[in-house]
Amino acid sequence: METKRQLSTREVTIINEVAKILSKGMNFLESAGEVLKILYSFWDVKYSYVALYRKDLKLLKIVKAFGLKEEEVERGLFKRGEGIIGKVYKSGVPVVLSDLSTNSYLNRTGLKERLEGSESFIAVPIRIGGEIIGVLALFKSFDKKESVEKAVELLIILGTMIGMLYKLEERINMERQEWEEEKKALTQALGKKYSLEGIIGRSVAIKNLIDLVERVSQTDITLLLTGESGTGKSLIAKAIHFLSHRKEKPFVTINCSAIPEALLEAELFGYEKGAFTGAYTSKKGKFEIANGGTVFLDEIGDMPLSLQPKILRVLQEKEIEKLGSERSIKVDVRIISATNKDLRQLVQKGDFREDLYYRLSVLPIHIPPLRERKEDIPLLVDHFLNTFNQKYSKNVKIDAKALELMMEYPWYGNVRELENTIERLVILKDGIVKESDLPSYFFVELSRDEPRNLPSVIELTEREEIIKALERTGYVKSRAAKLLGYTLRQLDYRIRKYGISLKKF
Ligand SMILES: Nc1ncnc2c1ncn2[C@@H]1O[C@H](COP(=O)(O)OP(=O)(O)OP(=O)(O)O)[C@@H](O)[C@H]1O
Ligand SMILES: [Mg+2]
Repeated sequence: METKRQLSTREVTIINEVAKILSKGMNFLESAGEVLKILYSFWDVKYSYVALYRKDLKLLKIVKAFGLKEEEVERGLFKRGEGIIGKVYKSGVPVVLSDLSTNSYLNRTGLKERLEGSESFIAVPIRIGGEIIGVLALFKSFDKKESVEKAVELLIILGTMIGMLYKLEERINMERQEWEEEKKALTQALGKKYSLEGIIGRSVAIKNLIDLVERVSQTDITLLLTGESGTGKSLIAKAIHFLSHRKEKPFVTINCSAIPEALLEAELFGYEKGAFTGAYTSKKGKFEIANGGTVFLDEIGDMPLSLQPKILRVLQEKEIEKLGSERSIKVDVRIISATNKDLRQLVQKGDFREDLYYRLSVLPIHIPPLRERKEDIPLLVDHFLNTFNQKYSKNVKIDAKALELMMEYPWYGNVRELENTIERLVILKDGIVKESDLPSYFFVELSRDEPRNLPSVIELTEREEIIKALERTGYVKSRAAKLLGYTLRQLDYRIRKYGISLKKF
């Protein structure tokens, strides 16, 4: 009995061939067609087919056939339990019929007339796990040496393999469909919010800006971004870089106001060993590091006059010279600069070189303050709520009245202030944020034109203003002091006096 269970070389070959199809990633019908071809080539099966149960039709239908004519395939429809095919589907038990003249053979396809008469009809279930999805059927003549039982064993294996092919395609389709849906949702979201590389808004100003960003990112044109602090200048500079052909190369930001003047030149252009006391090794400057990429000169209005000619040279000649070196180095960088100052005014005062100003502002892009594009506020609120709810695993929402107030509030710190405010709300609140949950300086700001009881309000107001300034500047004290018109020392004194916590939250 042992030998009976062993597969013959031919059967092993057939299984191997079918297994190869599994790995080819064809669609199910193609694969099924290949299996039937293999049965013909290796096993001399001249007629075969695969019928699947169609739930919508409530019928078994031939979906792939070998050796059958088109009209024979079309006739191949069976109800569950009807004929051999219907019975095998219903019971899951293979059937071998060696005499096709019996009544149980329906001859629905009409194929019988073309057969030689010596063929047996074998039908086995196609299974996926415990579920039967269809039937594999074939006509084959057996010579005396061949075991029909063994043939059925082989076909049961093939039925399972065909089931696997089906399952495989089902999974691929499902994944494709999910992916398509995800893509659709994404593009819809993008279309609706007019967002690009994280730039969100639906005001005419932002829509135009997004258009412009897309267009200029394809060029190397020098850009000057202007707008109040927190309007999104840095965000836009980055977006342009990552949309451009330079995206694989560095995006290097140089904050002209943050680096002390004495160090700025070395930082920008690098230095050679021995260029000054302490220069033990040579160092690359930011322009050299950024080669091939984009240099973002932030707060360009604070660029010291002494360095301005050198920046001009980069723009005109695309060349830099390291400190302590006579040799020029070619650099290929795109320059984007930004400022919240009025550069033209600086030019008039003699604090900024006119020639550099014209070089930098080949294409000036102005980003209006948030209070001039209130229709962006709900989208931004939504966006930041999503971001911070995810970050802090919360589900904070904002009710209509509170949102209305947010649209009225002047947001002098622009999107940055809005972002900080929402982050704070998400951390501190639960559930739905109402009007009364908004920070108190909100109301002070919103009732500016109403008379107030001054002496008692002044201290409170000062405290609120300081908190607001800190909030607006991301808790950078020097910036907050500047905003408030205090020196750093004056601000420090008041922070202590009012017990303002410098930990952000
Ligand atoms: N349209 C926008 N959509 C989404 N996020 C925005 C938008 N504008 C600004 N932001 C976000 O607001 C914050 C402040 O923006 P950004 O730092 O770009 O402002 P900025 O103009 O460079 O300010 P500063 O002049 O102080 O450097 C960032 O976190 C930025 O991602
Ligand atoms: Mg910035």
